[in-house]
Amino acid sequence: DHTNADTLRTPIVAVLGHVDHGKTSLLDKIRGSAVSEGEAGAITQHIGATDIPLDTISGMAGELIDPTDFDLPGLLFIDTPGHHSFSTLRARGGALADIAVLVVDVNDGFQPQTEEAIDILRRTGTPFVVAANKVDTTPGWNPQAGQPIQRSLEAQSERAESMLNENLYEIIGQLSDAGFSADLYWRVQDFQKNIGVVPLSAITGEGVPDLLTVLMGLSQRFMKEEMAIDVFGAGEGTVLEVKDERGFGATIDTVVYDGVVRNGDRIVVGGQEDPIDTEIRALLQPRPLEEIRTEKQFEKVAEVGAAAGVKIAAPDLDRAMAGAPVRVVRDRPVEEVVEEVKAELAEIEVETAENGVVVKADTLGSLEAMANALREAEVPILRAEVGDIAPRDIAVAETANQDEHKAILGFNVDLLTNAETELENADVKLFTNDVIYQLIEDYETYVEEKQR
Ligand code: GTP
Ligand code: MG
Repeated sequence: DHTNADTLRTPIVAVLGHVDHGKTSLLDKIRGSAVSEGEAGAITQHIGATDIPLDTISGMAGELIDPTDFDLPGLLFIDTPGHHSFSTLRARGGALADIAVLVVDVNDGFQPQTEEAIDILRRTGTPFVVAANKVDTTPGWNPQAGQPIQRSLEAQSERAESMLNENLYEIIGQLSDAGFSADLYWRVQDFQKNIGVVPLSAITGEGVPDLLTVLMGLSQRFMKEEMAIDVFGAGEGTVLEVKDERGFGATIDTVVYDGVVRNGDRIVVGGQEDPIDTEIRALLQPRPLEEIRTEKQFEKVAEVGAAAGVKIAAPDLDRAMAGAPVRVVRDRPVEEVVEEVKAELAEIEVETAENGVVVKADTLGSLEAMANALREAEVPILRAEVGDIAPRDIAVAETANQDEHKAILGFNVDLLTNAETELENADVKLFTNDVIYQLIEDYETYVEEKQR
């Protein structure tokens, strides 16, 4: 019995913005979780995905939303990193999205990655709203936990309100400089022509009801046609992460952005060498409100329709690459799908040089982030690959002409046990870290000391 909600696709909402402006905290507030606190260096380094069902949204939005107005099943939020080196992950998150939330710290206003995010949204033509975050840091603020922003404003002193307004108009001016006409969201009549600015706090939750209401309204009004999915369409998605799962071996955390994926489906997945042609053994769905990056209790399901985050178990996924495409093969030759996946992967390439260091990273996105950061630091790259550090990486690093380049920089990867003795006997220096800029800083310090 397919009701409307079964066949309307969940809209994908990307959360973008400058580092530390509060993207993960905002999602934590909506999910009732504390993902931000558990992050290395308090920095998001991967794309995440969380399904927020309509009843949670209407529960939080309270009086602002009448759930019977909506027939969309909810919203799938995509968290992205704000740190400057992750431009590809931001671009990918932005490209996946139907709509976006641009998070701007109300005190800091526009910063470099805010500008970058705006460029992505402009380029991809993604409608967005601005979350003017951290209103609670306004001097003299009287917090109104979880309240709609108008209620909260009524409780503020004139002085606090005018200080906040000054900051808000600064942001509206910056949006206008970027070519977008914007206003406080309650003054916006046509959200297709004007960008709505929602003042809020990810910590106290005030203004969050307003944001959810605006997002639901935007998706329902302007994208309902796009959200009607072909329930038999071959699923398409992107690998977020490759992870070992007890009892299943290597699995891929995937965002399905189109069509349907079923247990038993033949799929093609972008791999470290050739695309992987395999068959799904299990589809594991995170519970609603759980970030797929941190979920531990998955539920086995027969199928998932877009948009959803899902863990896929299948043979041979150990060579799958995070950031790579996933395609269901259905009603067409597998070769065609393999070519499609190859073509998509060819677009993502790291520039390498004759001389330089060896770089290993856990995902395509982080590999690109490493490459960007190393280019800025003027460190050349001899070879860059996704995966743990293997004996041949050490062999390659040893061939470097300059001593300072006889180095391996590993981001979020392990040294394989069979590479340990190799490393001991080689004249190669290994750097590993789970924070990119620290990894590069460690390497730069090493080079400086060497030159002294
Ligand atoms: P990246 O993922 O690294 O780009 O950062 P982010 O945008 O996800 O920022 P995150 O949510 O990790 O928050 C950064 C810091 O700002 C944390 O210390 C939060 O507690 C704090 N913060 C976020 N939102 C608010 C807010 O509304 N009010 C206050 N007072 N602090 C906030
Ligand atoms: Mg974050």
